Amino acid sequence: MIVNSWNEWDPLKHVIVGKADNCHIPAPEPALDAKVPEDSDMKGSWGRRTQETIDRANELLDNFSRQLENLGIVVDRPTPIDFSQPIKTPDFKAESQFGCMPPRDVLLTVGSEILEATMSYRCRWFEYLCYRPLLQKYWENDSNFRHESAPKPRLTDKDYYPDYLSEKIGDTKRLEWAAKKFFVTTEEEPLFDAADILRFGKDLVVQHGFTTNCKGIEWLNRHFPNHRVHTVNFPGDPYPIHIDATFTPLRPGLILNNPNRRLPQEQRKLFNDNDWEIVDSAQPAHNSPPPLCYSSTWLSMNVLVLDHKTVCVEKSEVYQAEQIDALGMNVIEVDLRDAYAFGGGLHCCTADVYREGNCQDYFPKQ
Ligand code: ALA
Repeated sequence: MIVNSWNEWDPLKHVIVGKADNCHIPAPEPALDAKVPEDSDMKGSWGRRTQETIDRANELLDNFSRQLENLGIVVDRPTPIDFSQPIKTPDFKAESQFGCMPPRDVLLTVGSEILEATMSYRCRWFEYLCYRPLLQKYWENDSNFRHESAPKPRLTDKDYYPDYLSEKIGDTKRLEWAAKKFFVTTEEEPLFDAADILRFGKDLVVQHGFTTNCKGIEWLNRHFPNHRVHTVNFPGDPYPIHIDATFTPLRPGLILNNPNRRLPQEQRKLFNDNDWEIVDSAQPAHNSPPPLCYSSTWLSMNVLVLDHKTVCVEKSEVYQAEQIDALGMNVIEVDLRDAYAFGGGLHCCTADVYREGNCQDYFPKQ
């Protein structure tokens, strides 16, 4: 058996680590424009990232892969496509593509299945191709492996609210909209990025936000009939994309929650009723993200759990490391900050292939 992973914490044995090759800052498009922070150095600039920054990010991703291999974990790498190629479908055109540093955004592993997400940005429509050589290999060697792909979305202008295309919205308005669950994506068709989903055995917890809409969550609900799918929101996030710098399970019964983006009281019942503790994560060590980065400083909590006692934490995120240590887990430091701009942190740049263990019910009371 090659593919098996039911949660975020059981012992990791096989993983995909992304690559920075040829990564581009994509041209403006509706979903991406809504996400790029208004004060970001990326506003208005797009094109291939410099070779120097690509080489540095690859050096860090290669080192991280070797660190995992030295711990006995099998590491696979994607096959980057030419992201400078424009995309044209009958419905839209994108001037360039993105990259394949964050496999977590695209691939959702649930048990013996790997599901390719619909994605919600036009520039990421073909990103799954980078992982196809690996998925094909798993399929040929593991007769239990279910390779699935969600319906490709059309991503016409009907998928995006034009309100979010305005140059200056401001955080106050954004937070108001987020609290009202008014996000950039409409309900035209099912949309989800895999990084909006956390796996808790029989339960899947999914963030409704910019990159995943209610129809996307309903699609997941129908696709996984043996699971319980729960929708969550984090109203303190003005740019709600991807759950993994917001809500981070460390082991059964324990979750870190971004203190600026707390799970609302009315959505805590599942966790409270089943004796799960949700603790505020430590503050990030940095005041701002690195240059040309999509993510926030909260990549500090974008950790990769290797087993119930061991967590990979980015080397400069000293407060997060201290907190995890105080929670009784061992920290493995990984240098990755110079690769953040390519698509995120340690959780983002990986996708599970195999963790020990099976499907358990961590929330029997519901
Ligand atoms: N949305 C995540 C952040 O905080 C990745 O940047």
